[in-house]
Amino acid sequence: MRRSLVPGLGVVLVAGALLAPSNIAAAADSPDISVTAVRAHLDQLQSIANSNGGNRYTGRPGYKASADYVKAKLDAAGYTTTLQSFSTSAGTSYNVIAEWPHGDANHVVMAGSHLDSVSAGPGINDNGSGSAGVLETALAYAASGQSPKNRLRFGFWGSEELGLLGSKYYVNNLPAAERDKIELYLNFDMIASPNPGYFVYDDNPAGNGARDDLVAYFTSKNVQTEFIDVQGRSDHAAFRSLGIPTAGTFSGAEDTKTSAQAAKWGGTAGKAFDACYHRSCDTITNLDLTSLDRQIDAIGHMIWTYAQKDYSGGTPPTGANLLKNPGFESGAVDWTGTSGPITNDSGRPARTGTWKAWLQGNGRSTTENIGQPVAIPAAAAAAALSLWIRIDTAETTSSTAYDTLKVQVVDGFTATTLARYSNLNKTTSYVQKTLDLSQYKGRTVTVQFLGQEDSSLQTSFVIDDVAVTAG
Ligand code: PHE
Ligand code: ZN
Ligand code: ZN
Ligand code: CA
Repeated sequence: MRRSLVPGLGVVLVAGALLAPSNIAAAADSPDISVTAVRAHLDQLQSIANSNGGNRYTGRPGYKASADYVKAKLDAAGYTTTLQSFSTSAGTSYNVIAEWPHGDANHVVMAGSHLDSVSAGPGINDNGSGSAGVLETALAYAASGQSPKNRLRFGFWGSEELGLLGSKYYVNNLPAAERDKIELYLNFDMIASPNPGYFVYDDNPAGNGARDDLVAYFTSKNVQTEFIDVQGRSDHAAFRSLGIPTAGTFSGAEDTKTSAQAAKWGGTAGKAFDACYHRSCDTITNLDLTSLDRQIDAIGHMIWTYAQKDYSGGTPPTGANLLKNPGFESGAVDWTGTSGPITNDSGRPARTGTWKAWLQGNGRSTTENIGQPVAIPAAAAAAALSLWIRIDTAETTSSTAYDTLKVQVVDGFTATTLARYSNLNKTTSYVQKTLDLSQYKGRTVTVQFLGQEDSSLQTSFVIDDVAVTAG
């Protein structure tokens, strides 16, 4: 009897071990994105330019052929694609939009690159490189058999070189409800400069999470990075101005590499990162393949990571509320900041009781804030901030965030923005938001609401029933 139990138990254990990997829904690490495959896309873009007058410029046949090439590859891989046309002073232009038809459509993670060149040349580094890298990452994701938690969408923009026209056209034609679903936009414009640098965009007012993930990825590969403030110089600007978190990488253009940069990245000091920037010599030979290889793997890492990111906010831990006077019914007691926002004015409803924090709503240029320090227990498994917010506005724009409310955590001298709302996020009643505070376990931080309004047309950000819970 005893002997028979032992093999039986052994079988159960083996079966359990075999079952475990498929039971665990953990996402696989991103694979190596093939630089050979990316090179093959770049060869195709070069030959498209060769047979169309040497460029892939807006309004010229080389651009449309580039868009058709990218779209055909994505169609064949199972993407839902759209060729979005728009007119420019130089003729008709096109965006190619490709969505992977799996994952929660309420949480969209986007990556994009501009597909057009200047008229002077074929634009292989600017921006065949970013386009081929994003394209191959999309194809690799489709081939991987992953089950994404979120919806992945890729944008190949037309007419960036004429003033970011394609990305602006795309966001301006997205209904507000669709914009709200975009959780992140990643931009790749020039990633294989022949004398490369490794720059990470540092111009993301809606949060630096993706920026920091890019830096951490390169650091893990022993590649040092520098921050760069790109702002209006590439296509993430259109997303950024809507308050969507953005990030991106860049290997350098017309600027000269310093000796300090050459010391950490190799290459030639005193020479431009891309001496062929916007010139006819930006051809298939104008590429650094090490830079290209590292950058495409960074794109893959970000896509695989963010495909699985939990944007639901999760269920907040059920511990006691660590905030005092969380529903404002005692007035301004226990809260610090500018006087005025905490009110029982009946001009806006409270969610519960009669008191609430009514930030802004003045219709003139003002800044208001309220906050409260809170000690987050080190032993907690998780911590979260939850709040109810109601936003009404007299602004009529559907594209510009004029008035904003930032939800911030102040840790020492560092304020981190966890969420940013604006006149574009107006609500019909109170809605609940849950924001993760787990990274502040063991610290005493100040939870702060910071409202900023421009010179006219009010936006009211009304907050009630705030909670910090840990458990
Ligand atoms: N957007 C620029 C171009 O296409 C390149 C660039 C990207 C410059 C990022 C600076 C920073 O010409
Ligand atoms: Zn350019
Ligand atoms: Zn570019
Ligand atoms: Ca209240």
